[in-house]
Amino acid sequence: MCGIVGYIGEKNCVPILINGLKRLEYRGYDSAGLGVLTNNHSVVIKNKGKVSLLEEKVQKTNLSGKVGIGHTRWATHGVPNEINAHPHYNTSRNLYVIHNGIIENFRTLKKGLEKLGYVFETETDSEVLPHLIDSFLKKGNPLFKAVRLALTEVEGTYGIAVVYEGEPDKIIAARKGSPLVLGLGDNENFIASDVSAILAHTKQVIYIEDGELVEVYKDKFIVKTITDNEIEKEIHEISMTLDEIDKGGFSHFMLKEIMEQPETISNSIRGRILFEKGTSRLGGLTEVVDRLVNSKRIIITACGTSWHAGLVGEYMFEQFCRIPTEVEYASEFRYRNPIINHDDTILFISQSGETADTLAALREAKLKGALVLGICNVVGSSIARETAAGVYTHAGPEIGVASTKAFTSQLVVLALITLLVARRKSMSQVDGRAIAEELMAIPDKINSILRLNDQIEKIASEFHDANNFLYLGRGYNFPVALEGALKLKEISYIHAEGYPAAEMKHGPIALIDENMPVVFIAPKDSTYDKIISNIEEVKARGGRTIAIATENDNGIDSLVDYTIKVPSTIRMLMPILTVIPLQLLAYHIAVKKGLNVDQPRNLAKSVTVE
Ligand code: M6R
Repeated sequence: MCGIVGYIGEKNCVPILINGLKRLEYRGYDSAGLGVLTNNHSVVIKNKGKVSLLEEKVQKTNLSGKVGIGHTRWATHGVPNEINAHPHYNTSRNLYVIHNGIIENFRTLKKGLEKLGYVFETETDSEVLPHLIDSFLKKGNPLFKAVRLALTEVEGTYGIAVVYEGEPDKIIAARKGSPLVLGLGDNENFIASDVSAILAHTKQVIYIEDGELVEVYKDKFIVKTITDNEIEKEIHEISMTLDEIDKGGFSHFMLKEIMEQPETISNSIRGRILFEKGTSRLGGLTEVVDRLVNSKRIIITACGTSWHAGLVGEYMFEQFCRIPTEVEYASEFRYRNPIINHDDTILFISQSGETADTLAALREAKLKGALVLGICNVVGSSIARETAAGVYTHAGPEIGVASTKAFTSQLVVLALITLLVARRKSMSQVDGRAIAEELMAIPDKINSILRLNDQIEKIASEFHDANNFLYLGRGYNFPVALEGALKLKEISYIHAEGYPAAEMKHGPIALIDENMPVVFIAPKDSTYDKIISNIEEVKARGGRTIAIATENDNGIDSLVDYTIKVPSTIRMLMPILTVIPLQLLAYHIAVKKGLNVDQPRNLAKSVTVE
């Protein structure tokens, strides 16, 4: 998704902006640009494609300046090309704007501005902003007021940063629905859509909220509401380190993040298990635990991989907490006027904490009076801040677009919530301890699966030229089938579908032939015999099969073409283990196809527009 970085201070902003944009690359983008105020004029340089191409272009110019803004664009309105890239500017080319989000009423605004004589040169919605601000400057307003008044006319979402030759001592930034942080330095300040862009320079940040604007100088800042009231803001200290957002010797972030899972899961569990009592301690839920335990219904709402985690959560909550649970795509939930009662708990799961649909669903649920809880990875993200309470996954920054370690940490947190609630209801101490013990053993078990990396890479060599894949699982492992298929399609561009194994007979079996690889998630559990029958059915039709099976299951080897064995654990935790080989399989297939694993085409890490 689009990224914003801005600098004002005593240093040359150009390398700071370029490095900031590189840090934002993981979010997904198709073009990039810089706008820099130099001593007596301003310069904009934009490029289609990678930030490295922009950097080459910038290096040829000797551009330098102490105030500037940079942007990575992910096209929504208008094709990815140089002209549509940000910054956008006014006709006099002395005012520059970068914008994340979507201006929904841009056509109306554009018509009005064209009548005033403004000429548009891009296909974007964002270009209305510099012209609109310019129209307020022309009425004699100073920059801050001009931006504020312009934004009162804008419908939609935005995170923006604005620089103007006429007032070169400041950057104006504003937020409505697109994340924005102000970074505080020593005689220098920063603006970013994501702290990773400025982490090399400061750990002191202020989160700009919806409906707020900030006037940033090198040595001070003023935050106001869109209705022009000045507000005090809290300074937060970021605990994330730069090492955490580097590749650490791995060829891709995705591989690093897969390999990190024993550690990230330990981090998700640390300090949260009360083994003697057979329960968990989740500080973020203390205030709301009674309401949660007494909920008549839990609705889990999320998108993509986080939605898959929610499906596993549904099995956990219903099996152990005995609370009816539904899982819904945030994008559907937000628009269908859902029936929400005061004794419902609505749980929002999001790695980034910024997904537009999930955030909008949260606001809808809040309005209707339900208890709203979050499971987020990014500390201080919008969803984390806007929920009544919640639990952080502590998986560390996830840079690869394909979610891996965030998913397994979400499952761990869901298991911890299950323990907390179920023990307050009917679960015995002995049963609680058994779950706690298994949870604590998960990191070592993942280590043993990661040692199968070479074996999985070999299997990937056999299948990387397939055009389609089917993933089948039952019960707790049905969501794993969906997740395995999503991982493969998003990074390898191979069409893949996940199904509950029993559904195969109701349609997908028609697809089976020697060209259709089928991945079975087949651990030894109560549905094992049924899934073995499904394997037989596929084999009978010539399908090529891979099984994710449990370590002691020797019988399955002769039934399938390839087996990947994982240690055994209790059913509710099995998805944390069975998904690991599927992450590695997708990764190796994509690498063998020579694809950009960390930034797959058309995808963004954080989907902050609808
Ligand atoms: O940040 P979120 O968890 O809210 O993101 C939700 C989805 O966009 C995300 O899980 C997406 O499906 C990933 N690319 C999957 O790997």
